[in-house]
Amino acid sequence: MIFTKFSSLILILGLIHFNTAFYLPGLAPQNYCNQQESTKSCKSDVTLYVNRLNTEESVIPYEYHHFDFCTTDESNSPVENLGQVIFGHRIRPSPYKITFMKNETCKPLCTKYYTAGEADSDRRLMIMKKGMSLNYQHHWIIDNMPVTWCYPLQNDRQYCSTGFSMGCLVRNSKNPEVEESCALNPAYNRPGTYYLFNHVDLLITYHSGAKEEWGNAFKQNGGRIISVKVTPSSIHHDPKAPDCTSQQPLEIPAKPLEPGKKIDVLYTYSVKFVQNNTIKWSSRWDYILESMPHTNIQWFSILNSLVIVLFLSGMVAMIMLRTLHKDIARYNQMDSGEDAQEEFGWKLVHGDVFRSPRKGMLLAVLLGSGVQVFFMSLITLAFACLGFLSPANRGALMTCSMVLFVILGTPAGYVSARIYKSFGGVKWKSNVLMTATFSPGIVFGLFFVMNLVLWHEDSSGAVPFSTLVAILSLWFGVSLPLTFVGAYFGFRKRSLEHPVRTNQIPRQIPDQSIYTQPIPGIIMGGVLPFGCIFIQLFFILNSLWSNQMYYMFGFLFLVFLILIITCSETTILLCYFHLCAEDYHWWWRSFLTSGFTAVYLFIYCCHYFVTKLQINDAASTFLYFGYTLIMVFLFFLLTGSIGFFACFWFIRKIYSVVKVD
Ligand SMILES: *[C@@H]1O[C@H](CO)[C@@H](O)[C@H](O)[C@H]1NC(C)=O
Ligand SMILES: *[C@@H]1O[C@H](CO)[C@@H](O)[C@H](O)[C@H]1NC(C)=O
Repeated sequence: MIFTKFSSLILILGLIHFNTAFYLPGLAPQNYCNQQESTKSCKSDVTLYVNRLNTEESVIPYEYHHFDFCTTDESNSPVENLGQVIFGHRIRPSPYKITFMKNETCKPLCTKYYTAGEADSDRRLMIMKKGMSLNYQHHWIIDNMPVTWCYPLQNDRQYCSTGFSMGCLVRNSKNPEVEESCALNPAYNRPGTYYLFNHVDLLITYHSGAKEEWGNAFKQNGGRIISVKVTPSSIHHDPKAPDCTSQQPLEIPAKPLEPGKKIDVLYTYSVKFVQNNTIKWSSRWDYILESMPHTNIQWFSILNSLVIVLFLSGMVAMIMLRTLHKDIARYNQMDSGEDAQEEFGWKLVHGDVFRSPRKGMLLAVLLGSGVQVFFMSLITLAFACLGFLSPANRGALMTCSMVLFVILGTPAGYVSARIYKSFGGVKWKSNVLMTATFSPGIVFGLFFVMNLVLWHEDSSGAVPFSTLVAILSLWFGVSLPLTFVGAYFGFRKRSLEHPVRTNQIPRQIPDQSIYTQPIPGIIMGGVLPFGCIFIQLFFILNSLWSNQMYYMFGFLFLVFLILIITCSETTILLCYFHLCAEDYHWWWRSFLTSGFTAVYLFIYCCHYFVTKLQINDAASTFLYFGYTLIMVFLFFLLTGSIGFFACFWFIRKIYSVVKVD
């Protein structure tokens, strides 16, 4: 009960909406009014921005002007933040002219001509066809809201997608499998034909102004935009008199055009403004978030699994405490007794348990980066829960985590230096340099290789050269010096004191049973932590690869806490068994035990790739696994460090309470 209340509290925190007293820059409401009354505080032009196009069938996004649509001067595009640039967003102005409260019917935009046999025309048409066959989706933005395409699903529900198809293809096979976007209109049925969506109906809902909300800016004929819905369609226009009520679709044969044949594509649009005062401006995102399939999943199933995990963890913790208590009581009793029996169990390895590991430098470096990733995730999630990183604030999540990662160089340097020093390391310069460059270098290297592929594909996902320079200068200009500062303080501090002395000569480790051998232990270690994150993982992957918005940060924060708990507990438990079996090589093993969760993450991503995505081409597959590897590596650092520090704390604790002569 208490648990349910607690989590619903976090949920509410996560779903908090901005109230009128507090707006982030760029997220304040925009007042609109009709042309006659427009002033500085209320605009009459409703600007439509277009974003890059993407699809579930490929990982490669393309800019709007990559396709042969009607374009306009793109020189004054909105400024994008680092996160948006890295995610491949390219927001550009469009030629659609919309005026507040002015209905438009079948307004022509531009005409594109294609003639058979002309090289340029063939190339343009080919790109359009490829886009339609892979089901590339438009992403339009009006008033900082996505323009949504709502269509009914089978179960009487409506799904509002934040993108809409540029067209569709009815495939030319004996058993024509009509694509989802073609199936919406029974007229799109001729096999081997593309239907290009050259007409859009925009339905703009607004909330009319009220004196209390607007203050001095109040206008009789004003309002705030609540939602913009689009219905795309394919219409074969008469070029002289475009008629948008025509039922005849624009058909483009899948085969190359016959010689002498021409196709004219006239793009048109209609706009309708409707008033609806029942929806508040502050809850205008709800209809999009509610239609996302997340809410379909019963909250209770997630909650139940969380409860089970917590229950299990509680049991583990209780068993450990009781067993340990008994052990310690027996050890200390034996010492006080006259007839000293032979030592047994984990106490036996007290002279070796703090013996420095092999490859201590690498371990210290990985732990430093792990700490960096840990605090980055924690702080980003906390911000996200408070609503700072809402979907309205595009790219903010990514920007926030990158900036945090750079700033958190200091704790990374400090932790790495202290651990390295406690291993008796003296090469402090290499330690700092490795901490600042090893893990970021792996991530950047992967990112750079993928960028080369995207460049080659002429994709909008390719980060411009200037952004690469910016990332490098953040890394070497800010993160590196901050790591040095942290390492300076880390090395200046006295070395970590261990509770027991280490013997000169290492003990022989007895033969281990199959359960206490390193590899089975490590493989088992990741199961429980993975078990409690995989439901969330599904939604996160959907938001990364299937255009769905992720907004359940409250839940994610909870899951993050549970991940910390389960990682720590499983590592401590396994660590205890290994010490009881007189195997004292715990440093690397504790890191790898919980770090193995990342391997399960990788397997899950492969499973997702095979079952959920319809990616066929090599470049997309390469990119998918590239991004996945970055994610898996960061997750490995995160979980590995959690396990290590939990185990480190535990071992220091238990050896400080037993008496050793
Ligand atoms: C625009 O069209 C809608 C729906 O047909 C109608 O309710 C509204 O009054 C129209 N607005 C204007 C300014 O004509
Ligand atoms: C306004 O929107 C609400 C919620 O979508 C709907 O139930 C209601 O019928 C709409 N009102 C008008 C006047 O269209």
